Amino acid sequence: MDLTTDITGLRLKNPVLTASGTFGFGLEFEDYGDLRDLGGIVVKGLSLKPREGNPMPRLAETPCGMLNAIGIQNPGVECFLRDKLPRLPWRETAVIANLYACGVEEFGELAGVLSAEEGVAALEINVSCPNVKEGGAAFGQDPLQIGRVTEAVKKRAGTKPVIVKLSPNVTDIAACARAAESAGADALSAVNTLLGMAVDVRTRRPRLANVVGGLSGPAIKPVALRCVFQCVRAVGIPVIGLGGISSAEDALEFLLVGAAAVQVGTANFLRPDFAFRLARELPEALAAVGAAGLDAYRGGLVLPE
Ligand SMILES: Cc1cc2nc3c(=O)[nH]c(=O)nc-3n(C[C@H](O)[C@H](O)[C@H](O)COP(=O)(O)O)c2cc1C
Repeated sequence: MDLTTDITGLRLKNPVLTASGTFGFGLEFEDYGDLRDLGGIVVKGLSLKPREGNPMPRLAETPCGMLNAIGIQNPGVECFLRDKLPRLPWRETAVIANLYACGVEEFGELAGVLSAEEGVAALEINVSCPNVKEGGAAFGQDPLQIGRVTEAVKKRAGTKPVIVKLSPNVTDIAACARAAESAGADALSAVNTLLGMAVDVRTRRPRLANVVGGLSGPAIKPVALRCVFQCVRAVGIPVIGLGGISSAEDALEFLLVGAAAVQVGTANFLRPDFAFRLARELPEALAAVGAAGLDAYRGGLVLPE
């Protein structure tokens, strides 16, 4: 079965990508499968300078999901380009850089550095991180700011496709999607984590040092699916779906509402081989629901009259 997927110039051998921040720089997962089996790898969020992230504890388990407040800890873009990217099979599998910056200018600068690299297939803008005080959520919740950041990145991205990753922590995700599209985004990804909180009733303290954090995993799938559905209907550019995907059937749900591709996030922590298996087993999963092929199935949701 032909699984090739084209996301506005980003050619993928199959529609299975790994989500930023949940798959390291890919190299950490080499023992669990062949990175070349994946459609793409979205690497950990990168900033111009290294970031230490938020204080510990910054992870908490919740029913059917987890909370994180990592705060974009990363070694910085230079380290990525020097030590990580050359070791990834970027000729066979798309390597997508995930960008984090504290201001519009800085987003543009980071895009300039990354777009010069042959091994980077596309840029994904994180305007939606709920865990950082500067920038982060402030960008992702305001269509005007989403537009500004998208324009700044687009200007410096050269020929690299620009994907804008949207936040579910908004009242009108369609407005955010349209703002990104109008500003020149080549594609969207939806969604980032949902803002959440957990407390310890004995110590009477929040479980995260940051107090609030991003909820991910199966608990958020219905919200993510609804967001993708609304984005697909709001824009003409491809939408990559993610949020709680932990089975082939979950992935099919996102494809059915019209996602061009899917990303696997928190499931990587529980089953480090899951994304590899999903990429391999997708034809079987499609056949099992009677689909003639990926293109024929994608977007085929039947709505009530
Ligand atoms: C530990 C952790 C770190 C993350 N770091 C990033 C990041 O650096 N950049 C980003 O855009 N999203 C980041 N995310 C969000 C995920 O890419 C994804 O959007 C979210 O977890 C929802 O998908 P899931 O439910 O499949 O995990 C992170 C998520 C987790 C759990």
